Amino acid sequence: MRQAPGQDADLPAPLRVKNQRQAAREACRGSARRLGLQLTEFRQDERGTPVPVDGWYWSMSHTRGVVCGVVYPAPIGIEVERVRKRRQEVVRLAATREEYDLLGGFSWHNFTRVWSAKESVLKKAGYGLQDLADCRLVAAPNSRSIILHHRDRQHFVHQSFHHDHFVSMSADVADDAEISWQWWKNDPNIRSEPTWEDFQ
Ligand SMILES: CC(C)(COP(=O)(O)OP(=O)(O)OC[C@H]1O[C@@H](n2cnc3c(N)ncnc32)[C@H](O)[C@@H]1OP(=O)(O)O)[C@@H](O)C(=O)NCCC(=O)NCCS
Repeated sequence: MRQAPGQDADLPAPLRVKNQRQAAREACRGSARRLGLQLTEFRQDERGTPVPVDGWYWSMSHTRGVVCGVVYPAPIGIEVERVRKRRQEVVRLAATREEYDLLGGFSWHNFTRVWSAKESVLKKAGYGLQDLADCRLVAAPNSRSIILHHRDRQHFVHQSFHHDHFVSMSADVADDAEISWQWWKNDPNIRSEPTWEDFQ
């Protein structure tokens, strides 16, 4: 997880997005380095879907505030979203009333939580938002995880919330994986959750 660089309001929007995309790729490289890998190129197919490198899957996400990237030896999807108001139709698109009830009812916090979770599962599958209707929330075991049903099976989604952003990550064959969210440290607004360095 990284603070998005070069997002000053007076910069042209395409340049801000370019800065986000570059930083997300650097976050992916950082994830690869921690696995002892030197991934330099992140190829995408003609639709923009990430192409694995020698069996290593990767996923990235970027907003104006936060960018993130992850590399893993199995399909993986990551999505970061800032908690903010959306149009009414997007709220309905994201989840049904029953799904919001599983999270304790509708709120912008819960909207962002379920939206980022669903996007992470759809990204893992290489689908875009067009498959959103096939993705259903079935359980929320605790504040850091969600279980979704998509295309005939269930998907476990790990979640972290910092600085008004939800990040969701879903990986296949993740049972033995140790999750370590690495939020940057030098921002006093970031609430205390351990970072990678805390374990060194
Ligand atoms: C394509 C999609 C994965 C983009 O997600 P997003 O939330 O808009 O953007 P994010 O920053 O989280 O992710 C973008 C990254 O996902 C990756 N990506 C793109 N298509 C992908 C796919 N089919 N599967 C997995 N990952 C994909 C790319 O690496 C992309 O980064 P890049 O453009 O710098 O290469 C998907 O959510 C989608 O279909 N979006 C369409 C936009 C839309 O309809 N938005 C409506 C909002 S109300």
